[in-house]
Amino acid sequence: MKQMYYASRFARPLSKADLQEIQDSAHRNNDKWEITGFLVSLGNTFFQVLEGPAATVDRLYYERIVPDERHEDVLCLKTELDVQERMFPGWKMKVFNLNEATESLPFAFRQILTSLVESHRAIAEYTQPSILKMLEQGISPTSVRPRRECVTVLYSDIIGFSRFAEHLAPRDLIGLVNSHAEVCSTHIAANNGQVNKLTGDGVLAYFPGLTSDDALEASLAILAEMARRRTTAGETSPHRYLYVGVGLAHGLVFEGNVGSPLKRDFTILGNTVNLAARIESLTRDLNVRLNIDESVVLSAKREHPFKSLGKHQLKGQSKALELYTLGSLSSLDIGEVYQSIEDFVARYPEQG
Ligand SMILES: Cc1cc2nc3c(=O)[nH]c(=O)nc-3n(C[C@H](O)[C@H](O)[C@H](O)COP(=O)(O)O)c2cc1C
Repeated sequence: MKQMYYASRFARPLSKADLQEIQDSAHRNNDKWEITGFLVSLGNTFFQVLEGPAATVDRLYYERIVPDERHEDVLCLKTELDVQERMFPGWKMKVFNLNEATESLPFAFRQILTSLVESHRAIAEYTQPSILKMLEQGISPTSVRPRRECVTVLYSDIIGFSRFAEHLAPRDLIGLVNSHAEVCSTHIAANNGQVNKLTGDGVLAYFPGLTSDDALEASLAILAEMARRRTTAGETSPHRYLYVGVGLAHGLVFEGNVGSPLKRDFTILGNTVNLAARIESLTRDLNVRLNIDESVVLSAKREHPFKSLGKHQLKGQSKALELYTLGSLSSLDIGEVYQSIEDFVARYPEQG
């Protein structure tokens, strides 16, 4: 048996009749599906516990409840598998409308529930998807053993960021960082990758598995979207000058918890991570938007127009590495990019 806890927000103001309708369909269906639990409505938030046979709970949750247009932002708080005994055997779905309750106990309960849901929403935004998945599955991330994994590491970084940081108003600077992070996160997730860390103006991500194809596709999508944003940005916007370099390296990394109880991080580390960052920084010297190492080329399964950039001795690496880019990408005149940033920041105060 499975138990699932989730919270959601009303998609629109819901009347008593709306809540009654939800209760009626829950009572109609849950009995025959052997689902029990309760549903709390407070403010504009639902909080529901479902329990029953695992496959049935999943079907009800993913196929009916999540797509229901009466609510949105459905956030799974916790899942427990192999539950031996129901917590609410007599409730085929007991509905509590705490907005109507006047006694003080529901008020206290409401405060606790609201803060729990709010803090979980904040955690969901700040944490990486793999941690969230563990929390949703009822696994404590601190108990996960470190392991070695074969991945492709992607590191993307804003070109000329220190010049922007010296001159731009905080709002504009954060705007650049957020735009880069948003583009990267979107295309990394769409290509089965995980953002591991936002390092200020940099994004560190990884793509699990033996092939580097997803990382290559994500890199192309990121670079294309950044170029599109540059051309559609307003005349005086710093986004017109937002260029990034992307580095890819493929190999083994260690994944696990590092730090202390005061500050813990579930992260990847190892030579492949350092290499991706080093290779990224070389985009400036090689006038390319994307710089990849030989192991990425060797692990690609699909056709990609790889173009050699020659052998290079990188700091911290025992032997010279052959580096590549993709021939489908136009080269980047890094001198011109830096000059355009210089011209922009020199004009910036008048525009700001
Ligand atoms: C917050 C919320 C909780 C719900 N809980 C249940 C539930 O426990 N069981 C159920 O069958 N439907 C539930 N529903 C309704 C389903 O989304 C869906 O409308 C319903 O299952 C359709 O039932 P019907 O085909 O019998 O009309 C819920 C909807 C919302 C918005």
